[in-house]
Amino acid sequence: MLIKNLNFQNGLMFPAVAGFSDAGLRMLCRRYGADLTCTEMISAHGLIYENVKTEMLLTSYNNEFPRVVQLFGSDHQIISRAIKLDILSKFDIIDLNFGCPARKIVSTGAGCAMMNNETTLYKIVAEAVNAASGRPVTVKIRAGFTKDNVNAAKIAKIVEEAGASAITIHGRTGDMQYAGVCNLDIIAIVKSSVKIPVIGNGDVTTRKKYLEMLKLTNVDGVAIARAALGYPQIFSEIKNVKINVDPVDLAIEHFDEILKYMPGHVAVNYMKKQAVLYLKRIKNSKKLHPLIFKAESADTLKSILISVKNHYLQESIEL
Ligand SMILES: Cc1cc2nc3c(=O)[nH]c(=O)nc-3n(C[C@H](O)[C@H](O)[C@H](O)COP(=O)(O)O)c2cc1C
Repeated sequence: MLIKNLNFQNGLMFPAVAGFSDAGLRMLCRRYGADLTCTEMISAHGLIYENVKTEMLLTSYNNEFPRVVQLFGSDHQIISRAIKLDILSKFDIIDLNFGCPARKIVSTGAGCAMMNNETTLYKIVAEAVNAASGRPVTVKIRAGFTKDNVNAAKIAKIVEEAGASAITIHGRTGDMQYAGVCNLDIIAIVKSSVKIPVIGNGDVTTRKKYLEMLKLTNVDGVAIARAALGYPQIFSEIKNVKINVDPVDLAIEHFDEILKYMPGHVAVNYMKKQAVLYLKRIKNSKKLHPLIFKAESADTLKSILISVKNHYLQESIEL
């Protein structure tokens, strides 16, 4: 898959996931086979007004390439000003979010609501392409904003005409949130409507579902979000590469990476929900959730994780 001047081997992507796609998880997803990863969505408005928390979201792991940042907003001028900021100059691809269905985002006209505002959407993409000075601009959309207006194919043509270099489409409408079935037909229609690469997204949790997405939609790439949370090795499974990794080791590696740039107490609180996901497949690990959520220091959280590992290595210890 070729996104403007950037070539990707397998088109597997770990897309933006707010509250989860930090530099640590992105590093692990890349290691296990994703060749595109993305920051979580970041407010263009927040970047312009120098919000410190927003800057933390821009942190990359060592040698991350390509670096992809996802922006959201509803004002074309603010978005293009944000793209030109020095703090974004390290990013190789600018991804624009037109898919988020969260009320606090769509109520400002941003995210998926922009799929109902074709004129502004065109302007945002065209000006972003200009502001990106040669870097590819990609977009993330859904099937439509609501079930009675499934307009992804029309939007795809608009963003292509505005100069976008690739489209990721999640085959649900905004009003579906994450419920119901992902519509592979609309993904196939989007793919056949444009010449730029299309990345299909929605409910891929296994190699079988991945192959089905490829076969039924003919997409150039596939994005896997929820199935990669606490399980970055999903990308190896998708590629049919057998690996044997310890979930606790992965959780600790992830934690160590975010401790490099998040203040300790922030990293500990942030990591708890991620730690629980890494332990999900381990028998009885649920019993440790109260302890995990009480942990106040990095050392305590790590020692709880290690105790889980000792448990399943020795199997004799009852949790
Ligand atoms: C908790 C959560 C946060 C998300 N945050 C973002 C985001 O910041 N930007 C974005 O484009 N999509 C976001 N998504 C959507 C995912 O990238 C993806 O499109 C969706 O989960 C469907 O793919 P999946 O079935 O593989 O999970 C989010 C999804 C979840 C569950």
